Amino acid sequence: MFKGLKPIQYAGREVWPLVEGGKGVSATNHASSGAWAAAGGIGTVSAVNADSYDDDGNVIPQTYDGRTRTDRHEQLVRYAIDGAVAQVERAHEIAGGKGAININVLWEQGGAEQVLHGVLERTRGKVQGVTCGAGMPYRLSEIAQQYGVYYLPIVSSGRAFRALWKRAYHKVPDLLGAVVYEDPWLAGGHNGLSNAEDPTKPEDPFPRVKQLRDMMRAEGISDDLPIVMAGGVWFLRDWNDWIDNPELGQIMFQYGTRPLLTQESPIPDLWKDELTKIEEGDVLLHKFSPTGFYSSAVKNPFLRSLEGRSERQIPFSTEKAGEHIHQLDVGVKGKNFWVAAGDLLRAREWDQQGYTTALKTPDNTLVFVTPDERAVIRKDQADCMGCLSHCGFSSWKDHDNYSTGRLADPRSFCIQKSLQNIAHGADPDENLMFAGHAAYNFKTDPFYSNGFVPTVEQLVERILTGD
Ligand SMILES: Cc1cc2nc3c(=O)[nH]c(=O)nc-3n(C[C@H](O)[C@H](O)[C@H](O)COP(=O)(O)O)c2cc1C
Ligand code: SF4
Repeated sequence: MFKGLKPIQYAGREVWPLVEGGKGVSATNHASSGAWAAAGGIGTVSAVNADSYDDDGNVIPQTYDGRTRTDRHEQLVRYAIDGAVAQVERAHEIAGGKGAININVLWEQGGAEQVLHGVLERTRGKVQGVTCGAGMPYRLSEIAQQYGVYYLPIVSSGRAFRALWKRAYHKVPDLLGAVVYEDPWLAGGHNGLSNAEDPTKPEDPFPRVKQLRDMMRAEGISDDLPIVMAGGVWFLRDWNDWIDNPELGQIMFQYGTRPLLTQESPIPDLWKDELTKIEEGDVLLHKFSPTGFYSSAVKNPFLRSLEGRSERQIPFSTEKAGEHIHQLDVGVKGKNFWVAAGDLLRAREWDQQGYTTALKTPDNTLVFVTPDERAVIRKDQADCMGCLSHCGFSSWKDHDNYSTGRLADPRSFCIQKSLQNIAHGADPDENLMFAGHAAYNFKTDPFYSNGFVPTVEQLVERILTGD
């Protein structure tokens, strides 16, 4: 028997302890988050390069005419602020005073602080909280304080929270709205696995969340301050032990993947169709993101081609040394590429298959690609508009000398381009399709049988039944 949830107090209002996680780019927007709030929960507008609209209500295409990367980066920050403001205003209208609206940014997003200031300045009274992960957002508390909104750090371990608290958050205790625990093995999008954790060995979230709670208690934080459980949450009946459990204190639940398939979800129908085909094991935890973080996405042709590219990889030396005693005679110009005997043979095979160009990686290896792939990689790197604070793919950095100082890595990809593409109708097979590891439930959960796509209100009602 499912225990059932009780409403809680958040930002001076009564809400269901159910959160729609923020999803960039444009995978949560005013329509989804406003509807989630209207259903009594906490909706999250993604402030990660959101869409803005012209006077007729059409989405303004985000094109970049700046000549330099820094010019385009500044343009991107302007788009980001205008977009998030537009989304918040509409979400606020739709919510009609019910539930609550948060916004989400990634700390590693290019110009994250500038975007937060820009958006919060122009949306006073319409945003209740800011959720932020992907990195260590030390300055989040200070920014939230300036605008009198709650802040909700997203962490994947108690240790990460303690570091944030000790360094900065203890100075702004009253505006800490909740702490989001995002399961780094199960959640869709970027994942906060640390070096100490093994991506192939998922850990039970209960003891990890218990440890987070114990650390919060040790810092004098009340058990009434919610921990938001995110990652792999589908049927609440599976979380019975978590509800009203004095060991864990107040718990809320965050959904990222499940709300992708609703009437109000802004993702294109092509993408929604793909969701219903996902089988167990189709979601891959991988490391191709240019942020350097792990992330979870559907293993579609796009991801498989990145896997293939990394498999067609060999180490080399610029001088004859060790086992690198053979001069590479395919894929490269010049004579300074020395490789092992077996790798020479593999490289010749790839060359025969059409992967005739070798590109250097920052790790003294070469990857073999087709001339067409090479052209796309080089164009995307040249077109970079600086969407991240550090980008492995293009070597862009959003401060100092604007370069990470490392070689641009052809094993990665332009995540900005791919996420904008998939959100605006491009072929989902050819782009990054973030999804959590529980996504296969769309296919098996009877709620979705006969192609049923719920409204957000129907989904929230369903979740509250435990199913
Ligand atoms: C398509 C997609 C995009 C996401 N984008 C973001 C994001 O921009 N920022 C963020 O903090 N989390 C992001 N997430 C994570 C969700 O907010 C949520 O925490 C997570 O999906 C919960 O796990 P679940 O996927 O198992 O439901 C994204 C998730 C998905 C599926
Ligand atoms: S190349 Fe990197 S920093 Fe530049 S736009 Fe693409 S993902 Fe963003």
